[in-house]
Order: sequence, then C-alpha cells, then structure tokens
Amino acid sequence: MRARKINDRVSLAGAVDWNRRLFDSLIPLPEGTSYNAYIVRGSEATALIDTADPAMASILKSQLEEVDRIDYVISQHAEQDHAGALPDVLALYPEAVVICSVKAKDMLIDHLHLPASRVRTVADGETLSLGDCSLTFVYTPWVHWPETMCTYLPEDRILFSCDFFGSHLATSRMYAGEDPHVCEAAKRYYAEIMMPFRKIVKNNVAKVQKLDCALIAPSHGPIYDKPRMIIDAYVSWLSDAVANKVVIPYISMHGSTEIMVNHLIDSLAHKGIEVQLFDLTVTDIGALAMALVDAATIVIGTPTVHFGPHPNVFAATHLANSLKPKVRYAAIIGSYGWGTQAVEQLSALIPNLKVEVLDSVMCKGLPRKEDFEALDRLAEKIHEKHAALS
Ligand code: FEO
Repeated sequence: MRARKINDRVSLAGAVDWNRRLFDSLIPLPEGTSYNAYIVRGSEATALIDTADPAMASILKSQLEEVDRIDYVISQHAEQDHAGALPDVLALYPEAVVICSVKAKDMLIDHLHLPASRVRTVADGETLSLGDCSLTFVYTPWVHWPETMCTYLPEDRILFSCDFFGSHLATSRMYAGEDPHVCEAAKRYYAEIMMPFRKIVKNNVAKVQKLDCALIAPSHGPIYDKPRMIIDAYVSWLSDAVANKVVIPYISMHGSTEIMVNHLIDSLAHKGIEVQLFDLTVTDIGALAMALVDAATIVIGTPTVHFGPHPNVFAATHLANSLKPKVRYAAIIGSYGWGTQAVEQLSALIPNLKVEVLDSVMCKGLPRKEDFEALDRLAEKIHEKHAALS
C-alpha cells in the first residue's frame, strides 16, 4: 500500500501485516497487525516517525521513494517491529539522524547495531523544529519498555504514540472513528503489554490528557480521530474499579474438573455474577488477558498431573501473575487421583497478584455431594466479596 495523506504535512506510511498470527512468538494476532510510520514534512526538514518490522522493510522503502530527503528518524520505541527497518532507512538517507529517548540509544545500538554517531537523544519535553512546525517529545516510559516516548506535533494537534493506545488490527481503514471493535482490539493489546505497568501507564495517560489532541496516531492499528474514545477506555482499564466478574481458566483431563467448573458457573450465574470461561487446551491467551483487565476474581481449575497442576494451567497461572491484573480474589478448584500439591504449587506462582485467596476445593476422583456443597460455599463467598466492593 502506498503512503496516504493525513493532511498536507503528514502522511501515514508503514505496512499492514495481514497474515501475521503470532507476535513475539507468544501473543496471538487473530486479526493481523500493522506497523505504522509517519512522514512529517516541515518547511525546513522532514521527519520519519518510527519505521517498520524488518520483514516489511521493503514496503516502507518503496513508500520512501517519493521522499527526497529525511533529516530525522524519530525512534519512539526500540522494539524491532518499529525500529527494525532503521538500518535500511539510514542507508537510504546518509544525512538522517536518529532521534530517541536517552534510554533508547543503547537499546538501538544493542538490538540493531546502529552507529552511535547517528543517534541523538532528546530530553522529556524537548522540541525539534522542522521549520514551520515542530515535534515535542513526551517521555511515556513503560508502554511497554523503559525507553518509550510519544511525539506531539502541536501545529496539527497530532500525538504519535507508537505502542501506546495501539491495537493489533490489519485493516485498510485509516481512522478508528468510534468503532467499539477497535477499542476491543486496543483493550487486548493493553492487557497483553501495558497492564503489568498499570501505575506508570496511568501517569502517562495523565500527560496525554494535558495535550490538546485532535488525532492520536499509534504505530499499530487505526488512527484515533475521536481520541476521547481511547483515552476514556484507558482511564477505565487503569482505574482501580473491578467488575462483578469471575474469570475461570481451566483444564480437565477426564471430566471431573469440568463437572466442578460447570457447577461453580451455575452457582455464580444464579447469584448474578458474570463468568468468563477459558479451556486452556484451546484458549487464545490474548482473550484470557483481556478478560483479566477488570475481573474481580480469578478461579483456576486444574486436574492433578504427577502431584502438581496440569502444565498448561501452570503456564497460564504464571502468565496471569506476570500480567498483574487488578483482580482482588483468587481460588483454585480441581481434582486428583490419589494425592495432590496443585494448590500449593499454583499459590506459589502468583506473588504479583495482590489477592485474597479464597477457599480451594480439590476433590478426589469424581466430585461428590460434599464437593458440590463446597463449590456452592465458594460461590457464596465470592458473591459476598463482590457485593462488598460495590
Ligand atoms: Fe509494537 Fe513494543 O512494539
């Protein structure tokens, strides 16, 4: 796709990666993604903001055939999906200087072997003149690496935000409008990479709220032409408020854990509590992460394999711990054949979750009447805890 004009000064370049289905060899991309780059032509100098994933560098290079000169390449984030094509761009424009945050410089040198002489750092709040317009750099650390920054073009009231506010969506659309589908994709992205840094991200949103943005232009997914939508969504995800919702990631090997999970769902649903269930043999971990953004409680369901939890449950619990969702309560349910340490092992995996651990329910073999009664007591305890939150 050729570069497209946002206005007389700014164009959207970069690549739409329609077919990519996995990011970082970890994160599912059900709808592909894009690597947006932006060309800003000032009267005295031209800047390219971000580049593209190395696999798509040829697309960016073909778009740049129409650009005689690039003076500055703004590297807002050193991760390879935005910085990976920097060496190609620097080879095309020997006069170009890379502009980045102080922390990004070493990262760009380490990851891409850029020559230090071509990298210039800028401070938080520093401004770079392009002649009749300027770029102001706004440090926004930990969205989601330590070096990340945004770039504000005050003359057009455009904030270039890289990963911040982004969404993994491959689309030919330039603008998000008020499409809730874009917001859902942004929520998934927030859950996967921003949520672990919720407190710091909150500060960054406050910084953005002080700017007068007509457009927020991320480096993944559509541009927000109604920026209020994504800012309000972030404020909600970042808040301390939790929903009357239980997330249950589980696995069942021979049906016992599944019977327990289904009984608990029924009991919770009859108390008016929403449940989101994830069978970890088929679960998209991005969907699980998204469910954890505002859930009040997580209940982990596991059978016992060799005295411990099922390995996939082990992995999902470790993931939930690393994402640091704002869940308040946790419980473990499941089954075993002759002995189990699943509860102890799973409990040890969640030090980052500041949760109150509710009673666990582990049954031997097929669940019996007393196991169902224990699950009903767990549902009642969750109901009481959730009621106290409202
Ligand atoms: Fe889209 Fe953190 O890179």
